[in-house]
Amino acid sequence: MMVRILTLPLLAPVAAAALSSGNAGDKVTDQKRIGIIGAGAAGSSAAYHLAQYARDADIPTQIDVYERSAHVGGRSTTINPWDHPHYSVELGASIFVEVNHILVNASRDFGLRTATRMVHDDKGMADLGIWNGKEFVYTMTDEGGWWDMAKLFWRYGYAPVKTNSLMKDTVGKFLNFYEKPLFPFKSLSKAVQDVGLIEVTGLTGEQFLKNKGVGDLFANEIIQASTRVNYASNLGSIHGVETMVCMAANGAMQIDGGNWQIFDRMLSSSSSIATHLNATITHISKQTNGTYVLTFSNGGTKTFDQIILASPLQFSHLVIDPAPAHVPDQIPYIKLHVTHFATPHKLSPSAFNLPPDAQVPQAILTTIPAEEPYPHNDTTYNGSPGFFSISILKSLINPLSAVPRQEYVYKIFSDEPVSAAFLSNYLGVPVTDAEIEGTADPDANVSWFHHKLFHSYPHEFPRVTFEELKLDDGLWYTSGMESFISTMETNALMGRNIARLVVDRWLEEKLEGAEDVFEGWRYEGLQQPAGQQQPFHAKL
Ligand SMILES: Cc1cc2nc3c(=O)[nH]c(=O)nc-3n(C[C@H](O)[C@H](O)[C@H](O)COP(=O)(O)OP(=O)(O)OC[C@H]3O[C@@H](n4cnc5c(N)ncnc54)[C@H](O)[C@@H]3O)c2cc1C
Ligand SMILES: *[C@@H]1O[C@H](CO)[C@@H](O)[C@H](O)[C@H]1NC(C)=O
Ligand SMILES: *[C@@H]1O[C@H](CO)[C@@H](O)[C@H](O)[C@H]1NC(C)=O
Ligand SMILES: *[C@@H]1O[C@H](CO)[C@@H](O)[C@H](O)[C@H]1NC(C)=O
Ligand SMILES: *[C@@H]1O[C@H](CO)[C@@H](O)[C@H](O)[C@H]1NC(C)=O
Ligand SMILES: *[C@@H]1O[C@H](CO)[C@@H](O)[C@H](O)[C@H]1NC(C)=O
Repeated sequence: MMVRILTLPLLAPVAAAALSSGNAGDKVTDQKRIGIIGAGAAGSSAAYHLAQYARDADIPTQIDVYERSAHVGGRSTTINPWDHPHYSVELGASIFVEVNHILVNASRDFGLRTATRMVHDDKGMADLGIWNGKEFVYTMTDEGGWWDMAKLFWRYGYAPVKTNSLMKDTVGKFLNFYEKPLFPFKSLSKAVQDVGLIEVTGLTGEQFLKNKGVGDLFANEIIQASTRVNYASNLGSIHGVETMVCMAANGAMQIDGGNWQIFDRMLSSSSSIATHLNATITHISKQTNGTYVLTFSNGGTKTFDQIILASPLQFSHLVIDPAPAHVPDQIPYIKLHVTHFATPHKLSPSAFNLPPDAQVPQAILTTIPAEEPYPHNDTTYNGSPGFFSISILKSLINPLSAVPRQEYVYKIFSDEPVSAAFLSNYLGVPVTDAEIEGTADPDANVSWFHHKLFHSYPHEFPRVTFEELKLDDGLWYTSGMESFISTMETNALMGRNIARLVVDRWLEEKLEGAEDVFEGWRYEGLQQPAGQQQPFHAKL
């Protein structure tokens, strides 16, 4: 590394240009070239850990990260209420937890501050209520915390204690993914099996909880409220591990100003990483010598030794030519409507069948009444409540109103777009279409409104095998992780895992001796199974 930097200024201009553009054929150095597609949690973490591992192994590496959008973070991204630059709220992934070691360590190492929770101004306003479309079946305050044992015991008996211990067991098994001997893992299916979680991913949350003797009432009211807010899924269609992940809420936190900053810092942590925004990749083409050429939407190309695809293939609009040895399945993703808005009004007690002077909880999760039959084949069935969650995120001054006005910024997760009639009902004041369309004046009852339809995460159906993470020699894929657990941390973990596998292979090559290895790569590159020569077109 040192030597290369020192000799760089001495190179002839032509050679230097070839080096910096990373063009194939520059035999000037044995620098490894890695192309990463996607600057979300997975791609950023892959780049960050690759740079670290390669530096520690003393292997010169150039990492190019390509991101189609204009921002780093992918589904971890913020919006600004009233477009005001000083206000921001999470639009996508909003929280991570204590056991998310990559995110927690990175936040600490980058000196990022975690945000404090909103302090509510009203005594008697519960922090959280679980609504079933008819009544609040449970409410809790911050002081008691999630495991407000006495109160929970009163209603649910031992179910919360059992669930807590099942959750701890699941998390304990999962933590093996970070350490030797499991880490780095070459197959996700095998890793899930090795830690003893395959039985749990193979069952629905409902089946798993029943098998473990967790009472129906607790499962329906508390656990399902959690799977609905976290994964827009009812217990009959989300697997057991993801169900337990929903209950692992200890030490929930978010980064002040946006979680995306973790990924931004990861990308700027090393001079060997170059991040290219507004850069869409359209083709991944494997060459006969085993290298890969990426094609950009503007027609440009660049050659790499290894490619990491860090986005769900089906939303990447990529052509992989020839088709890789393993083509990931297209999997169903949930379409989640995420709505933010600001208003001076609180939620209407009457919309929740409460007396007029009652306080509505600040965060409302939902469940389907136990007696209400619901179609188990319809994962995101809203049921009686008609939405998954509504919560007040912040209390802010409306910067556009004629007179400064304190307002609440709300977030709604739902299966359907939020209408003016919906808001009129839940706020108990008239809300017009103009307010929803954002064309009303800033003093209207709804002064700011933002809607986003996400392919948020997969339908987490029970399954016992997962996508390959190595699609072909030199071509890696992170998003298979999402059918196991879809979070920023797990995708970041898959990025770190692939980084380790790549650098370990380079270390092996180094040992084998540079010349021999080159032959080896060529040989591997030619091992294209017959009948796989057609390009693969990813489509929506
Ligand atoms: C509303 C919502 C709430 C969520 N809540 C949480 C939460 O509280 N906590 C949590 O941990 N997780 C949460 N998640 C899940 C979490 O956001 C995801 O699991 C994680 O962020 C996915 O990261 P990723 O890097 O794998 O994919 P992505 O974030 O999707 O990143 C992929 C990137 O690749 C880019 N890309 C795709 N194709 C191309 C191409 N051809 N060329 C160039 N670039 C391309 C995309 O633009 C994108 O930026 C939530 C998700 C949503 C939508
Ligand atoms: C591999 O082949 C491509 C053309 O297909 C060429 O540009 C590149 O220089 C070759 N790379 C190596 C390392 O041989
Ligand atoms: C990306 O594109 C957006 C809008 O098209 C533009 O505002 C932004 O400056 C661009 N960013 C970069 C880094 O090119
Ligand atoms: C996080 O940091 C702690 C303390 O420095 C360290 O022991 C641990 O291995 C780190 N974990 C990861 C995943 O980086
Ligand atoms: C669910 O099953 C019912 C009855 O078998 C069928 O009518 C309905 O279309 C299915 N719904 C979905 C979303 O598949
Ligand atoms: C806003 O709500 C109030 C009731 O609080 C209502 O009187 C008023 O007409 C509403 N404003 C608009 C623009 O609809």
